[in-house]
Amino acid sequence: MAAAPRTLFVTSALPYASGDIHFGHLLEHIQTDIWVRFQKLKGHRVIYCCADDSHGTPMMLTAERLGEPAEALVERYRAAHAEDLAAFHVDHDIYYTTHSDENRACAELIFQRCRDAGLIFTREVSQYFDPAKGMFLADRFLKGTCPRCDAEDQYGDNCEKCGATYEATELKNPRSTLSEATPELRSSEHYFFDLGKQQAFLEGWTQKGTLQPEVANKIKEWLGAGLRAWDISRDAPYFGFQIPGSDNKYFYVWLDAPIGYMAALKKLVAEGRSQGVSFEDIWAADSTAEVHHFIGKDIVNFHTLFWPAMLEGAGFRTPTRIHTHGFLTVDGTKMSKSRGTFINASTYREHLDPEYLRYYFAAKLGPNTDDIDLSLDDFVARVNADLVGKVVNIASRCAGFLHKQHGGRLGAKIADEALWAEAQAALGPIGEAFDSGEYAKAVRLIMALADRANQYIDAEKPWVLAKDPDQAQAVQDVCTLGLNLFRVLMTALKPALPKMAEAAEAFLAVEPLTWEDGQRWLGDHPIKPFKPLKTRLERKAVDAMVEASKAAPAPEAKASAAKAAPTPAAAQEGAEAFITIDQFAALDLRAAQVLKAETVEGADKLLRLTLDVGPLGQRQVLSGIRAAYEPSDLEGRFVVLLANLAPRKMRFGVSEGMVLAAGPGGKDIFLLGPDRGATPGMEIS
Ligand code: 2FM
Ligand code: ZN
Repeated sequence: MAAAPRTLFVTSALPYASGDIHFGHLLEHIQTDIWVRFQKLKGHRVIYCCADDSHGTPMMLTAERLGEPAEALVERYRAAHAEDLAAFHVDHDIYYTTHSDENRACAELIFQRCRDAGLIFTREVSQYFDPAKGMFLADRFLKGTCPRCDAEDQYGDNCEKCGATYEATELKNPRSTLSEATPELRSSEHYFFDLGKQQAFLEGWTQKGTLQPEVANKIKEWLGAGLRAWDISRDAPYFGFQIPGSDNKYFYVWLDAPIGYMAALKKLVAEGRSQGVSFEDIWAADSTAEVHHFIGKDIVNFHTLFWPAMLEGAGFRTPTRIHTHGFLTVDGTKMSKSRGTFINASTYREHLDPEYLRYYFAAKLGPNTDDIDLSLDDFVARVNADLVGKVVNIASRCAGFLHKQHGGRLGAKIADEALWAEAQAALGPIGEAFDSGEYAKAVRLIMALADRANQYIDAEKPWVLAKDPDQAQAVQDVCTLGLNLFRVLMTALKPALPKMAEAAEAFLAVEPLTWEDGQRWLGDHPIKPFKPLKTRLERKAVDAMVEASKAAPAPEAKASAAKAAPTPAAAQEGAEAFITIDQFAALDLRAAQVLKAETVEGADKLLRLTLDVGPLGQRQVLSGIRAAYEPSDLEGRFVVLLANLAPRKMRFGVSEGMVLAAGPGGKDIFLLGPDRGATPGMEIS
């Protein structure tokens, strides 16, 4: 008997607003989406929510640098993230933001209830303050000399040279990375969540099957060492929610981030799109629904200690399970911009089919927190061998004969009962593997079944039978079983490859497949003409994506190129004669080598320069230096390029940046050069 349908509320960790969606996010969202789609195919009611994690100091600083209200940025990033994830067929019911009225209401409620339960207290904290910026500094905005090994230029909490961790106050010669000012120690009142009071609850909750075993063990160690109170407030200026009853204190971004899971559901319910599920159905203390969070192992403490402690303290239910995955590496190492392996969703989808990546991640994901490696060679090989070589091949081999000889109809007979029984039985363990997060195992089982189907067709040789008119029935029988096996395979692959499954459903002329359907025989049924469901993945397309990833501007440079860098005209019109240090810091100055310098017909002051800017590619710049330089003197020479100036359309063409020069004008113009030893594209600070 089929198990009763369950109601599941599922989330992926909320991406930070002020960055692009990249492979790291995709791994997690695809992992979650596959699980969600599997549960839906099994007939369960699933709500999948996500949002941008919009608050915090970086967002505030970005808004300041771009001269845009933070609220406008919130929506711009949210929309871009939602679009990227949807392009990878990640099917959130809602992609919201933590900067919402719903989230403010939920955060205030949880804070209030925890305070009433005696879980919140205040105490004075002494912290570095930047007198120039007028703000307290988180450790990452402090640099100085390591108190242990005297290495210079180390962050406020740890030394990259000797590995020491320390308090910011121990740093020698501290300075603010925001203003370069020497910070002052100042005292301020902070709010704390008294985690120690939740110790007994957490000891129980973390060890009752809610976590993978290795995560549960790690938490046991932390609990054994005792829990310190958690600082949940930040002083103004801060982009977030003000703490009720305080003048200038805000909730720390990590307090309202997970509450964003709840707020997204609230919004979905308000929009009437929650499949009849209410907020209380999911979050009431006695809820019978399940709550599943998918996260990376770097944020385990927030989801297995702080978040359940807050929920329990506020009288809400706690999560059913936290599904933790490992880090992603590409070709065996950390993703790297210079190697082109720090790949953004938008770059990938300009070059490759998102389902290739979904398939590859599925083929690699296990139930534990081991890191996952995406080897680009292996990626190409597996997509081609498995999807094209095995699965699509079955359909293409069988469809032709049915159309040529049998009017495009499947026959009624099951030609090999044992093989069909084997295929039906396979869906059981494949389903169990998906359910328990063992996607790699599920994919292995699916490909073993694809091998069996291909072996069957190889052995029966319909292409030989087709030559003998007496064997026409046999051809139809073999191809009918072949396509039924294909249908089982596509059912099993549907959580990972929803678009390919949709195309297969159209080809087989069937309603959207459910897990149950996969096991039913499809006989005496017309099919549609076959169209290739997936084409080969070419290595050169992957290489082009890698090259494009090297050339893609860094997120900040991109944002500022689009929004911030003033064009000369705008700068002249601006009421302000001065630019701020932040605006100055937003300038992306690069060493560039002149590949070609040419005069411009009709423009006696201009030269057209073709510049090599290394990872940023080549740029054409029109520069008013004709009177001072002969084109031939410039070729091969290095110049300094303002690389994130928005391209300007001039009478003589588009200028993609500006080369820096100084001097009174005319013949007395001197191009600035970077240091000796500069390489094309090198950043100049
Ligand atoms: O680590 C991160 O990317 C965070 N933005 C995740 C937040 S998850 C949840 F708690 F909101
Ligand atoms: Zn050190």
